[in-house]
Amino acid sequence: MASSSAVNSAIERLANLQLNELSTSSSPNLQKNLSILSPHQIEVGKMLLELGQVHLFEDWPDPGTDDDLKKALLDQVAVLNSSYPGGLASYIKTAKELLADSKAGRNPFDGFTPSVPSGEVLTFGDDSFIQYEETGVKEVQNAAFVLVAGGLGERLGYNGIKVALPMETTTGTCFLEHYIESILSLSEASCKHAEGEVRRDVPLVIMTSDDTHERTLQLLESNNYFGMKPTQVKLLKQEKVACLADNDARLALDPDNKYRIQTKPHGHGDVHALLYSSGLLNEWKDAGLRWVFFFQDTNGLLFKAFPAALGVSASKEYHVNSLAVPRKAKEAIGGITKLTHTDGREMVINVEYNQLDPLLRATGHPDGDVNCETGYSPYPGNINQLILELGPYIDELSKTGGSIKEFINPKYKDSTKTEFKSSTRLECMMQDYPKTLPPSARVGFTVTETWLAYAPVKNNAEDAAKVPKGNPYHSATSGEMAIYRANSMILKEAGVKVDDPVTQVFNGQEVDVWARIVWKPKWAVTFADVKSKVRGDNSVSQKSTLVVKGRNIFIEDLSLDGALIVDSVDDAEVTVGGSVCNNGWTLESIDKDSTALPEEVRIRGFKMNKVEQLEQFYGEPGKFSLKS
Ligand code: UTP
Repeated sequence: MASSSAVNSAIERLANLQLNELSTSSSPNLQKNLSILSPHQIEVGKMLLELGQVHLFEDWPDPGTDDDLKKALLDQVAVLNSSYPGGLASYIKTAKELLADSKAGRNPFDGFTPSVPSGEVLTFGDDSFIQYEETGVKEVQNAAFVLVAGGLGERLGYNGIKVALPMETTTGTCFLEHYIESILSLSEASCKHAEGEVRRDVPLVIMTSDDTHERTLQLLESNNYFGMKPTQVKLLKQEKVACLADNDARLALDPDNKYRIQTKPHGHGDVHALLYSSGLLNEWKDAGLRWVFFFQDTNGLLFKAFPAALGVSASKEYHVNSLAVPRKAKEAIGGITKLTHTDGREMVINVEYNQLDPLLRATGHPDGDVNCETGYSPYPGNINQLILELGPYIDELSKTGGSIKEFINPKYKDSTKTEFKSSTRLECMMQDYPKTLPPSARVGFTVTETWLAYAPVKNNAEDAAKVPKGNPYHSATSGEMAIYRANSMILKEAGVKVDDPVTQVFNGQEVDVWARIVWKPKWAVTFADVKSKVRGDNSVSQKSTLVVKGRNIFIEDLSLDGALIVDSVDDAEVTVGGSVCNNGWTLESIDKDSTALPEEVRIRGFKMNKVEQLEQFYGEPGKFSLKS
């Protein structure tokens, strides 16, 4: 056997030879460290030199100092290279092009004319909505669910992962729990329609990142996957991408560690490449699935609009269906827009609000983005929930590998645009998927009322309090209030008399406080479910809390002025009625900086004071009546 020193010197000779082939003088520091590196690490070093990254070795000391750190840098680069489609060469090439465009101020929409795409505008509760919901529920058995949950949530600044946050504090249900319970209940409802067919466990994929992966897994495991089979849930972890220090796309070193490339998230657009490379899409196709639903980490309302939107996808045979909400002209939310290029290209895509208005002005609409006769902009507001048809999705990804058109957003030091304030990186967005589709692709949208579909939790209390009046706060406070409002509005539409809300201020945000009405998805996942479980003459006062947890609970001639919590096993049928009056649960304002309370509570600016309630659990099968 050859001695290790003989092997090392052979590798060194080989590596020297390779480096010599490239350029002997380009990095003396790398060259003198070859003896400590593996052949693979040397290859990586060589690649970096080829890509113009010689600066990475500038401060490398002689062998014997920081050797492990030097190796770790090259190993990190190897991971960055293999986790990006096309490798670092492709990353740097695209970065150089986009940085040059950005420096030159080139507009990515040059040559495109915007127009209003076609889509479906729904009104909650009318016949067409109910019909679409019914169609959608039937299709749920053919759907896969994809939650993108790799985001840092810097704006929210919460210390935990966002999906673990309580969606509302009446029951304390967290986002992930609600999502999973909604998927399970929808799937069950779907099975009832598909009698005779084999019941399928609909799959859920969660895209995580280093920032969220471990804690997401732990949340699932410590809660028994919230009722899903562990095999139903797959976590796909996205990798971060390298940061760039300048217009030549030189990789940025971590300011605190000269042996580490600084990295940042690449954006939720990664989900397409990850799904493609996971092989799951073909598995789903072979299993007969037809739809993939993409959704985000903190929107407690999304499953209220999803069934009808899936119904629209199925009825209109949309390859891409973007869920959307009415949008006031110039409102700070992207607009779904059809873009037609002078060269014939065409796409239906999200255009950010700050690009839409100038684009319209530049293409023959002197007033830019203005409201039409509906009182809203004709360009619906994108809420970034997408339903894709699986077959065409796979066809497209087999061409692109799932890579999504990227963008770059450098913050320059001054108008010469030669230096950045801090490093930048390429980013990509899930909703940019349609950019590469052929004009024959059927791309549409489904608009539902905002109160029904969209209340994300993205902003911390301080920033939310600064939001100009009339604009959404998108905070934990407003996200929770939106759930009570939506449930109140749905019950009203089902014939329940629900008192008007009162206005209160929490954490500097003025919000409408409706009765705290919450139900589990197994009680109702569609409006038709709600209507079938509410009978007679019911009323709920503003100060009330109503929590319905059991599957077969019927609300009949109930007059509620206080707190009522009803739960039951699935085999129990419970009729709840009569007059329930007690001191109920009150919302007490709290100081967001009071360290005595948990962060989940502080970020809302209020806590629940559970003063008095009527709470009933029916644990045996049979028929019961709760009438006081
Ligand atoms: P957000 O716009 O809320 O971004 O992402 P964020 O990164 O979570 O939060 P900020 O911008 O730092 O405040 C929308 C959705 O996309 C996911 C988020 O988890 C959220 O569900 N996301 C975002 C990813 O999965 N990966 C990313 O790289 C970025």
